[in-house]
Amino acid sequence: MLVLEKNSLTEEVESLVEFYGTERSALLPILQAVQRKHKYVSDFVQQEIARLLDIHPVEVYSVVSFYAFLHSEPQGRNIVRLCQTIACDLAGKEAVARAVERELGITFGQTTKDKRITLEYANCLGMCDQGPAMIVNDRVYTHLTPEKAINILNEIK
Ligand code: FES
Repeated sequence: MLVLEKNSLTEEVESLVEFYGTERSALLPILQAVQRKHKYVSDFVQQEIARLLDIHPVEVYSVVSFYAFLHSEPQGRNIVRLCQTIACDLAGKEAVARAVERELGITFGQTTKDKRITLEYANCLGMCDQGPAMIVNDRVYTHLTPEKAINILNEIK
């Protein structure tokens, strides 16, 4: 008789469902727990969550894509978020955005091949009078120019 070993991710989701319950309200805390541990919520995990909560996978996917802190793809070791809100936009965000894209060879929403950097847009970082602003992991940088932004990127390990 063939005995299939249970996938450890399935077991992990099962124990989260055991902890948070099978109500619809458990969906977000379960997703957050997976995100915290794995830094993203894979398609497989999304399907397992849907199966165990008895909801449609599209519902899980729509929650993952709605919240900026949930990701369906593996993220880079460093997350670079450039503010796209109006004050930074008027202060020259666009030139900074194009320069960092060129430097990294990716566009916003993507991760470099070596997984060093994920590039994203953010909404107001609370530094509107010092824009353009960006946040690298937990550190905020202000008064960016294309050159300054590239120097910051080059210092990221
Ligand atoms: S608009 Fe960019 S920090 Fe507020």
